[in-house]
Amino acid sequence: MSYNLLKGKKGIIFGALDENSIAWKTAERIHEEGGEFVLTNAPIAMRMGNIKELAEKTGAEIIPADATSVEDLDNLVEKAMEILGGKLDFVLHSIGMSVNVRKGNHYTEMNYDYTTKGWDVSAVSFHKTMQSLYKKDAMNEWGSIMALSYIAAQKVFPDYNDMADNKAYLESIARSFGYFFGKEKKVRVNTISQSPTPTTAGQGVKGFDGFIAYADEMSPLGNATGMDCANYIVTLFSDLTKRVTLQNLYNDGGFSNMGVSQQVMEAFVKGQEK
Ligand code: NAI
Repeated sequence: MSYNLLKGKKGIIFGALDENSIAWKTAERIHEEGGEFVLTNAPIAMRMGNIKELAEKTGAEIIPADATSVEDLDNLVEKAMEILGGKLDFVLHSIGMSVNVRKGNHYTEMNYDYTTKGWDVSAVSFHKTMQSLYKKDAMNEWGSIMALSYIAAQKVFPDYNDMADNKAYLESIARSFGYFFGKEKKVRVNTISQSPTPTTAGQGVKGFDGFIAYADEMSPLGNATGMDCANYIVTLFSDLTKRVTLQNLYNDGGFSNMGVSQQVMEAFVKGQEK
């Protein structure tokens, strides 16, 4: 159902690779709510994914940009304003990648060149994006900037590897830059900490099937889906949440405040009896 919550609002959406991507579902929902946007992804993702299909469906243009390149980001911000005919109201950063995870390196056996690449793509790219928006004065007052995080930033999930550190860094950047964006430009900056979700990035994590099933059993409302996340983002881009800023917002069915659930306890006891 559409409520026209984003009528007249313009923005940039990073990270739609295929129809499972959180950014893909978000783009579809923003379009339904009347928002206009440009889509962007790394040049290599253009060849791997189906972003063109999404662009056609939502009437969006695509501007390739490697989110670690300041030059690409400056070009993206300028072109987006040209195409959309003015300043922006929303930006979604939906990007994550760890080379150590991809290569199967254990947390205690890191290759630090990979570590550096991973934090640049997953965390510093958020700073670079905001710096480009800030310097070019590209955001309208009461605009909203979001990135996506995971609870491994606060609690230990051993197989999440160095992505845990990258997410902690990302959340800190949201707060630190959010202060300046709030003070100087009246723009809010937040992260959503999302349940495990079956996407390309999600499934790259070792033991993901166990991860997602465990989180589902622990959460009183069950895991939040990609569509639940898209809906939450719509509210955070709308004028209904104008003074929510510097927050890490859990969209996780209650997981983050649980100790143990009845189902998880029963499964554990059953396993012990064997
Ligand atoms: P996805 O694989 O569909 O999206 C990740 C995107 O990052 C892809 O579109 C990829 O092309 C893009 N990307 C990678 N390197 C890039 C670069 N250098 N420049 C520009 N774009 C680049 O997966 P998903 O799950 O939709 O990921 C979106 C965000 O949600 C990520 O930040 C992820 O960490 C986060 N998240 C995902 C969860 C999950 O279980 N899937 C749970 C919590 C957070």
